[in-house]
Amino acid sequence: MSENALQYLLNRQSVKFVRAPGPDEHQLGLILQAGMSAPDHGKLRPWRFSLIRQDVMQSFADRLFATAAESETPIPAHKEENARRWLSEVPLLIAIACHRDHGNTKIPEIERQLAVGAAVMNMLNAAHMQGFGAFWSTGLGTYIDEVNEMLGFDPLDYRFMGYLAIGTPIDEVFPLTRPDHLQFVKEYRS
Ligand SMILES: Cc1cc2nc3c(=O)[nH]c(=O)nc-3n(C[C@H](O)[C@H](O)[C@H](O)COP(=O)(O)O)c2cc1C
Repeated sequence: MSENALQYLLNRQSVKFVRAPGPDEHQLGLILQAGMSAPDHGKLRPWRFSLIRQDVMQSFADRLFATAAESETPIPAHKEENARRWLSEVPLLIAIACHRDHGNTKIPEIERQLAVGAAVMNMLNAAHMQGFGAFWSTGLGTYIDEVNEMLGFDPLDYRFMGYLAIGTPIDEVFPLTRPDHLQFVKEYRS
């Protein structure tokens, strides 16, 4: 076992505020490929990703907030302002969806969503291991059907699961104290 790899897992933390440079094509390929080794019941490969790069970030934000404004759950002005400020620096967003695959009744949808979650976790780790900051957000209209459609993930066929923001941390990242795992573990006895 590589002690170094384990240290990366133990030290990972989310970093929301990131800026350019984001991952180059090779680094991004490694991040996405890490997602492919997530556990996946039935080999359904339910994960779907859409890359939103910095050159289209502003127009994405414009469409996102215009679409949300027309929906039943518009995004409040102060949240829009904060999100726009955040997005103005983010070099890469990866929109995440789970393919619902109505043809498959054998594997429950929750398991497919868990597989996508596991893929995203691998991607967070792969970003961290390459020195990037990354953050999973279910803001930005994740639960607005019209926004999902705008991104090409029609809610009839996909469960939209948010966005990964990836880039270079803007602020210094300090180590976090994590809870002791023993608080969450008990011993089964028969
Ligand atoms: C599915 C999912 C969605 C999340 N959405 C948000 C979000 O919209 N806004 C937010 O502030 N944090 C959100 N978080 C939490 C952050 O991604 C992050 O985990 C949190 O800030 C704690 O940081 P840590 O990962 O270093 O423990 C989400 C986490 C998960 C797993």
